Amino acid sequence: MKVFNCIQDWQTCRKAWGDRSVGFVPTMGALHDGHRSLVDRCVAENQHAVVSIFVNPTQFDQAGDLAAYPSKLEQDLDILSACGVGAVLLPEKAMIYPDDYRYRITENGLSERFCGAHRPGHFDGVLTVVMKLLNIVRPRQAYFGEKDYQQLLLVRDMVSAFFMDVEIVACPTARAEDGLALSSRNQRLDPQQRAAAPFLHRILRTAESADHAGNLLIRAGFDLDYVEDFSGRRLAAARLGDVRLIDNIPLASTGREKNHDPA
Ligand code: PAJ
Repeated sequence: MKVFNCIQDWQTCRKAWGDRSVGFVPTMGALHDGHRSLVDRCVAENQHAVVSIFVNPTQFDQAGDLAAYPSKLEQDLDILSACGVGAVLLPEKAMIYPDDYRYRITENGLSERFCGAHRPGHFDGVLTVVMKLLNIVRPRQAYFGEKDYQQLLLVRDMVSAFFMDVEIVACPTARAEDGLALSSRNQRLDPQQRAAAPFLHRILRTAESADHAGNLLIRAGFDLDYVEDFSGRRLAAARLGDVRLIDNIPLASTGREKNHDPA
């Protein structure tokens, strides 16, 4: 596995790979089994798999959240090497933003709703860095998790809007046994919060409507950002203490189980 800190060195390697199929998984590191599911698929479906680890400052609307973002570089590299990844990109901020973020992608619709309504500028930062990374890596396929469903939709729409020659592959949400969607932020939950966290997924599944789910989440002790049905999914974000959790499920799978009242 080759590790690149410098974009020019990477580009020399990329040229040597020529037309061979290249798959790409962009990440912010602190890798868990959710990331791994994307990486494994990328390795299986391409001649070369590339992963980036870059904690993108422009998508953090709160400095504290950026500062608290976990970093586990050694462990991440071990995981990626064991998965069979061919190249890892570890760019510095100045390499990705030589323009100091003067140029950016702005989407004026979906990005202002749901998570975007609570995190101003977040999706501009995400779309801009994804555009840059796709231009640097030039993959045939790029893998994104359904866990961040709004991000997935926005990236897909951007690729289509700008006629970009890459296929965006959606990968299902990897969960802990109790249903909690795996996330780098989960490790910041204290034991009591960790015990409450799976209710997010359970309530999304069992509630008859988005409004009902919202009420149940508040009763279960969550600070609710939103629960809404959109594009065939039920999407939610809610906080336990200062940890913000997001999740979503297909609407076809909602309301089928017996309601579970956590209170
Ligand atoms: P990050 O949170 O590190 O996630 C990287 C990729 O892993 C995203 O596509 C995300 O949806 C996916 N992922 C995270 N948890 C998952 C889970 N439990 N199951 C399946 N997939 C999961 O998302 C980002 O980074 C950034 O916004 C990024 C796209 C890298 C741009 O900076």
